[in-house]
Amino acid sequence: MSKPFIEAKLVRIQQNTEDAISLFFDKQQIVPTDFKSGQYLNFSVSINEQEERRAYSIFTAPFDKEIGVTVKRVENGLVSNFLHDQIEVGNILSLSPPEGRFVLIPDGDKRRQHFFIAAGSGITPIMSMIQAALELEPQSECILIYGNKDEKSIIFKEELLKLSQKYAGQLKIYHILSRSSQGSWKGIKSRLTADLVDELVQENMNERLTQEYYLCGPGELIELFDGHFRANGIDTKKIHKEYFSSPKLDSATAKKEITDGSSIAEVILDGETIQVEVPKDKTVLDTLIDSKYEAPYSCMSGSCSTCIAKLTKGKVEMEQCYALDEDEVEEGFILTCQAKPITDSISLTYDID
Ligand SMILES: Cc1cc2nc3c(=O)[nH]c(=O)nc-3n(C[C@H](O)[C@H](O)[C@H](O)COP(=O)(O)OP(=O)(O)OC[C@H]3O[C@@H](n4cnc5c(N)ncnc54)[C@H](O)[C@@H]3O)c2cc1C
Ligand code: FES
Repeated sequence: MSKPFIEAKLVRIQQNTEDAISLFFDKQQIVPTDFKSGQYLNFSVSINEQEERRAYSIFTAPFDKEIGVTVKRVENGLVSNFLHDQIEVGNILSLSPPEGRFVLIPDGDKRRQHFFIAAGSGITPIMSMIQAALELEPQSECILIYGNKDEKSIIFKEELLKLSQKYAGQLKIYHILSRSSQGSWKGIKSRLTADLVDELVQENMNERLTQEYYLCGPGELIELFDGHFRANGIDTKKIHKEYFSSPKLDSATAKKEITDGSSIAEVILDGETIQVEVPKDKTVLDTLIDSKYEAPYSCMSGSCSTCIAKLTKGKVEMEQCYALDEDEVEEGFILTCQAKPITDSISLTYDID
C-alpha cells in the first residue's frame, strides 16, 4: 500500500556531532497514532528538479512529544548533504508516515535480554528501541555494543550516558572505537569484529532470560554479524536487521537474470488493478514508476522494504533482498525495486497492510 506523503514543518535542528544532525518535527503533525520503535520516515526531497527519497530512522521514543531523526553526512551523498546544508527550521518537508519492520515492541511481562549491535548512524533506530525497552519493559536488560571511529563521532554519547545512569542495572553500554584521538579513551579500542561482539555477548549472557539480537548499520557489517550469529546456531527469528546501505555485491555471485522478452504483470495498488508489460531485464518498480504510477519506494537497493508487495502468481528473481527474511520470501513477499519477472505473466499486490 502506498502511504501518502505528509507536509511537516521542521521545528528544531540539533547538532549531534561534527557530521550528524537531528531534525525534529511535531509528532502530532506526522503521526496521529503511535509508531513502533525502530521505524523510519521516508523523506522525499527535490534536488536539481529530481525527486529523491531516503529513509531516516526515528531515534525518539514513541512516548516523546517530538519525533526526531538523525542524519549523518555521507561523503558525496546527495540527500544527506542537502539536509545538512540546505534545510532550516520552519521549512516544510515531505515525509512518509513511519514505516519499517525492524521494530521492538516492549512487553512489560517479558524478561528478555536485548543485545544491540550498532555502528555509526546505525544507533538511531536502536536509540528509540532502548528508550522504549528501558521504560516499558523493566524486567529486561539492554546491552549496547556500539562501534565508532573516535570519541567525537559518537552520536548520542551524552544521552546514552544519562540513560545508563538513570537505568543502572538495566542498560550496559560498550563503546568500541577504531581510532581514539587523544589517547585518553578508557574504553575498548578495536575494530568492531565478530570475535569481539561474540566475547561481549558471552560475557553478558544471562540464561534465565531470552535473548534478542538487533543489528543496524552499513550492509557489510550486518552481513558479517548475521552470518556469525547464524553459524553459532542463533535462531534467525531472534536476529533483527536494518541495513542502512546494501553490502557490496560480488559480481561473480550476483544472480544472472533472464533478460529476453517481457512479462504481463497484473498489479494491485491502492485498490486499483493495473496491467503493465515488464521487460524481463527491468524491475517491476521501475516499470511502474516509468508508467507514472505512485508505487511506494525509498532506497531502491533492497534494504528498506518500503516497496514490499506479495506475489500471487508467477515468479520473479531478486538480485538483492536484505529487507526480507527467508520465511517472508517463502510466503511470496517480494521487494519490487529488485524483482524482475522470469515467467511470462505475474500477479502481485501492494495492498498487504
Ligand atoms: C531503513 C533505512 C534507515 C536509515 N536510517 C538512517 C538514519 O537514521 N540516519 C542516516 O544518516 N542514514 C540512514 N539511512 C541511510 C540513508 O537513507 C541514506 O542512504 C544516506 O543518508 C545516504 O544518502 P545520500 O543521498 O546522502 O547518499 P547517496 O547519494 O545515495 O550515496 C552516495 C554514496 O555513498 C554511499 N552510501 C550510501 N549510503 C551510505 C551509508 N549509509 N553509509 C555509507 N555510504 C553510503 C553510496 O554507495 C554512494 O556511493 C537509512 C537507510 C535505510 C535503508
Ligand atoms: S525501495 Fe527499499 S527495498 Fe525496495
